[in-house]
Amino acid sequence: MANLLITGGAGFIGSHTCLVFLEAGHELIVIDNFINSSPEAIKRVVQLADAHHRLTLVEGDICVEADVEKAFTSFRRKNFLFHSSIDAVIHFAGLKAVGESRTNPLDYWGVNVNGSYTLLKVMAAHGCRTIVFSSSATLYGYPQRVPIPEDAPIAPINPYGQSKAAVEQLLADLAASETGWRIARLRYFNPVGAHPSGMIGEDPCGIPNNLFPFISQVAAGRRINLKVFGNDWPTFDGTAIRDYIHVLDLAAGHLITLETLLSEKPQMLTLNLGSGVGLSVLEVVAEFEAVCGQPIPYEIVTRRFGDAAKTVADSSLAETRIGWRTTRNLTEMCRDGWAWQSANPYGYAN
Ligand code: NAD
Ligand code: UFG
Repeated sequence: MANLLITGGAGFIGSHTCLVFLEAGHELIVIDNFINSSPEAIKRVVQLADAHHRLTLVEGDICVEADVEKAFTSFRRKNFLFHSSIDAVIHFAGLKAVGESRTNPLDYWGVNVNGSYTLLKVMAAHGCRTIVFSSSATLYGYPQRVPIPEDAPIAPINPYGQSKAAVEQLLADLAASETGWRIARLRYFNPVGAHPSGMIGEDPCGIPNNLFPFISQVAAGRRINLKVFGNDWPTFDGTAIRDYIHVLDLAAGHLITLETLLSEKPQMLTLNLGSGVGLSVLEVVAEFEAVCGQPIPYEIVTRRFGDAAKTVADSSLAETRIGWRTTRNLTEMCRDGWAWQSANPYGYAN
């Protein structure tokens, strides 16, 4: 069993991944400043896993070296060891709103790039050289071909994507330095859904930017209707197509990736994590309606700036290289997402 530092572990993907890692028997330190999450998520994760003694929470900022240092030393103190005992870092912490990154690029470069740099610096000082990094399909910009393979051009079209590309480059430089780094750059497609218990899920601050939480909040009565961004895309029903992936499949992808990194020689893995299945906005709406048993009112509005018509992963490399593939379909994504939203209409603030 490994000792793991999880940055951003209280967030949407981080909380589900913490649960999966606890269920697999690992010991965790979570560092989070709760800028987009709640400590309640962590409470529920340890309750679900019945693992109160295997998760330590450090409230701190990854941009502040002393806070990251504190996470490393908390672990050491807790375990009465005299050397760094964190085996690996799973790095989720960061800012992720595409539109906000355009209006506030300094924050995105600051948190996503400088925060990652600070984390890596502290890791190196402690001799911890294994990291799984949350990258994104946003790197591919407007893809030239779909499904998108990992060797497609990196062409981000917003500061958020630029910040992910910069961290990917820093990680590639570390891997090339031949100092024993074990690195995974995981490019997520569209993570959605929730744990089927309805106890943890996605709880965005303010008006959701993303399709799934928006639909869920309409179903829960928090929003009047969904705005569908364009029905004039070159797709079968005119609405844009994405590759949605259940957050628990994504969490499982992190576990398998970590096991691969720890069991093989130092290397860098770069993998798309998606289902390979493309679904239109209206297909998602129809399935959500079927699952929640009520109509989701929507209106068609103009296209959103920066959207692509279709992004779908070529996820064959993850399957052949680490033996991972998605196991949950759209119905399960909607069912589990609705279980969370209907039990917690106002998220963790309930
Ligand atoms: P999230 O906002 O729910 O989680 C991020 C967590 O990081 C939050 O708990 C937040 O409080 C924390 N955090 C932010 N800045 C921090 C800082 N300076 N110090 C410490 N903690 C900080 O987002 P998520 O959806 O769980 O995404 C996790 C990661 O995956 C992010 O890096 C994101 O860019 C990436 N990603 C997400 C998606 C998506 O659609 N959700 C897609 C691709 C990649
Ligand atoms: N959409 C709507 N109405 C909404 C929200 C979204 O019609 O209110 C549409 C979008 O136009 C798009 C689709 O639903 O066609 C999915 O949009 P999301 O915002 O949910 O997801 P994106 O594919 O735009 O982007 C998300 C994250 C990015 C990440 C990318 C790939 O926001 O950060 O997935 O992982 F990079």
